[in-house]
This record gives sequence, structure tokens and C-alpha cells, in this order.
Amino acid sequence: MKAMPQNNLPPSVKPSFLGGHFLQFRRSPIGFLTELSKLGDVSFFRMGSQPAYLLNHPDLARDLLVVSAHKFHKGRALERAKKLLGEGLLTNEGESHLQQRRMIQPAFHRERIKSYAAAMTAYAERMANEWRDGDVRDIDKEMMRLTLNIVGKTLFDQNVEDETDEIGNAMTTLVGLFDYLLLPFSEILEKLPIPQARRFNRAKETLDRIIYGFINQRRASGEDKGDLLSMLLHAQDEESGAKMTDKQVRDECLTLFLAGHETTANALTFAFYLLSQNPEKEKKFHEELDALFPNGSVPQPEDYPHLKYTEAVLAEAMRLCPPAWVLGRLATQEHEAGGYKIPKGSLVLVSMYILQRDERFWAEADIFKPERFSPENAVKEANQKFIYFPFGAGVRRCVGEQFAWMEGVLLLATLARKWKLSLIPEQRFGLSPMMTLRPKFGMKMRIEKR
Ligand code: HEM
Repeated sequence: MKAMPQNNLPPSVKPSFLGGHFLQFRRSPIGFLTELSKLGDVSFFRMGSQPAYLLNHPDLARDLLVVSAHKFHKGRALERAKKLLGEGLLTNEGESHLQQRRMIQPAFHRERIKSYAAAMTAYAERMANEWRDGDVRDIDKEMMRLTLNIVGKTLFDQNVEDETDEIGNAMTTLVGLFDYLLLPFSEILEKLPIPQARRFNRAKETLDRIIYGFINQRRASGEDKGDLLSMLLHAQDEESGAKMTDKQVRDECLTLFLAGHETTANALTFAFYLLSQNPEKEKKFHEELDALFPNGSVPQPEDYPHLKYTEAVLAEAMRLCPPAWVLGRLATQEHEAGGYKIPKGSLVLVSMYILQRDERFWAEADIFKPERFSPENAVKEANQKFIYFPFGAGVRRCVGEQFAWMEGVLLLATLARKWKLSLIPEQRFGLSPMMTLRPKFGMKMRIEKR
């Protein structure tokens, strides 16, 4: 018999005297949620006056993201992100989200994505040729530059390199100020003539100018270049026959621009870091590359399916350091989870970071072992069990997932075929869990010829 939902609250940690749970969360999001996760499959805290629940079991994560997804919205963080992203795929809700998703999804089908692979290997090869033996480079910034160029090329078929500084700077400013956008009272802050608000607006105007420029050019030429922009301009919803307005195309471009580069760059940075700390695994990884690319041959898009160990390295890096480390939802109606009542208006969280390191489901959970993902379909199986979901799940699952896998694998292979990356002794390692999970102190690495 199904247990009746309890009226009492799930277990919680003692709120700090000043600032309560909110401050504890802000100070150390991962530490705070990890502490809560030890209390049970459902735990409780308050974000200011808002009740919040952490679900810490694969079945509860599945229920939140798939089975009961219709009872939830994406919450305040994403509501605030509309300020920048408008009604793009990431921020849209309900029927309007589904319609946009139907229009955009074809641009990310497996076959379609193959045509983007050439840009991925070409840009990676260019970077591999720029690096010099003995260089010390900020790998986090290098990966960001690389993935930004690739998303620019695949979105607009444009070598955004010339504009990269402008686009890159504007993007970096926006990403940096995004966290500030999510602060309580930020609705008020942003109206004040404070430097952050001014910088944010300036960066947004720069990106709008560039993106509307691309849209106008393309509409005027009427050309179908086979890139994402052409796909967006021509996309039509089969059910309603609707096409996108310029504003919608702009919102989707900015969304894909933002969602499509930082996460992949972080995944690559963590993968290089973890390889550098695990020489045996690094050796195995290099052996795969040497076997597939003898005599200095360069990885090609068609090599992607053969890069099995490389893919396992990326999968394992995203298990330990998932670039999207937590998902939040807002209950739009009352719900029940693990026997507890979750009132309408509550914030509900699941954390990939925590579940993907959970000893109940992963042996030697904190150890970097790409072999876990070596058997065919291991990623899929872990996905189905809901113990591994770096790309989310359900109707909001990452639309760029296949793109990201292919990009991550091809970039790792192309760069590491030539170069071995080692952490410099002064480089500290830490995690900064903001909107995405980033290396807290950067990632300076020495580049050595292999
Ligand atoms: C390693 C790389 C990536 C990771 C870890 C990642 C992760 C995620 C996650 C977890 C979500 C779901 C968010 C939620 O449910 O609240 C998501 C959504 C999304 N991602 Fe990614 N992503 C990656 C790369 C990409 C790329 C390359 C693109 C596009 C080129 C992209 C575009 C999007 C979009 C548009 C959404 C919103 C989908 C929707 O709500 O319908 N992502 N991503």
C-alpha cells in the first residue's frame, strides 16, 4: 500500500544564526547540498522565505524531470535569465517551449551534426598548431576560445575569430554578471546606475548588434548556408505552421551561443586536468590516439565513432565534474516526493554532482576511472538508471547533447594527439559552482610535445 504523504518536514541542517540556509548555500553550494544529502533521499531547507527540497535518489530525480515534469517550471534563476536570453529554448515554458523545441530539434539531429564536425576538427587543429613546446597556457580560457569559435562557425557559418574579441568579451562579461543577476533584489539592483548594470547592458547591446547584423544579412541574401542560423530562419512548426520572428531567432541564437560553449569548455578543461592527475589513464588515452592516428595523421570527423576510450574519458570527467552540476525546478502545484508533501511554490533541486558521486551507485565513486564507461552502451545504461545525467532528462534535456559529445571527443583527440598537458606546480585546484561548474582558480597547464 502506498504510504500517505507526511505533513511533517523532511530532515534539515541547522540554519546559521545570521543569513540562515541562504547564506550557507551561497557560501558553499556543493558543501551545503552534500551535507543535506546525507540526511536522506529528501531533505529540506529555506532560500529566504521560499521552502526548498533536495531530492537525492535516482527514482526521485526521474520523477521530477520526466514523470512529473508537467508540475514544474524552471524557477527564478531561469526567469531572471530571460533578461538576457528572452524567450529562447532554455528559458521558455509550457506549450511555447514545446513548439520552439520542435522547430529547433532538427538542427541537432545526428546526421545534421555530422556536418558541423569539420569545423570542430579544423578549429582544434588550428589551436594545436598555435601551441608551442613548453608554453604555459590558461587551458580554461583556451577551451572557451575554441568552443566559442566553433559555436560561432556552426551557428553563423562565419569566422567569428575577427569579432571573437568583441563577442568573446561581451560573452565573458555577461557570464560573469549572470550570477549577480540571480542575487536577491537584483531586480532593483539592475535599475540602479551601478557599474555592473551598465556593463551588463553594454555587453548585451554589443551582442544584439552583432546577432541582428547576422540575421539581417542572411534574410537579405535569402541564402541557405546549411548552418544553424539558416535552420532557424527556415524552421517551421509542423503542427501550427508557425515560423520564428527575428526576435525569436535572436533569442535562440543567444541561447545557443551561451548554452553551447561554456559547458563544453568546462568539460574539456576538467578532462585535461583529470588526465594530468592520472598518468596511467592518460597513457591509455594516448595509446588510443597513437593507434588511430599513426605518423602524425589528423583526426577527421569520421574517426569520431572509433574514439571509444576518448569518449569514456569525457564521460568520466563529466561524472566527476558535471558542467551543469544542479537542476532547479519550481513546483507550480502541490507534489509528493519520497512520502513528503511538497507545497506549490517550493524550489526543488537534484544535483548531478552529488548523485554521480554517490557510493550507493558507484564503486570507488571519487576515483577517475574511464573504464566504467568503456563497455558499449554504458553511458546509456547509467542514463536509464538515472545515476548519470550530465545533460539533464525529459522534455528539457539538453538539445545540444550529441553536438557536445562529438565536439568534446574530437577536440580532446585533436589536441592530445600532439600535446601532453601537465598542471604547473603552483596551480591550485578547486570548484566554483555558479550557474555552471568551473575551475575555481583557473587551469594553467604546461604544453609538451608528445
Ligand atoms: C558538455 C556540454 C553540455 C552540458 C553538460 C549541457 C548540459 C545541459 C543541461 C543539464 C540542460 C538541461 C537544463 C535543465 O533541465 O534545466 C541543458 C539544456 C540545454 N542545452 Fe546543453 N549542455 C551542453 C552543451 C550544449 C551545447 C553544445 C548546446 C548547443 C549548441 C546546448 C544547448 C542547450 C539548450 C538550448 C538547452 C535548453 C533545452 C530545453 O530546455 O529545451 N548545450 N544542457
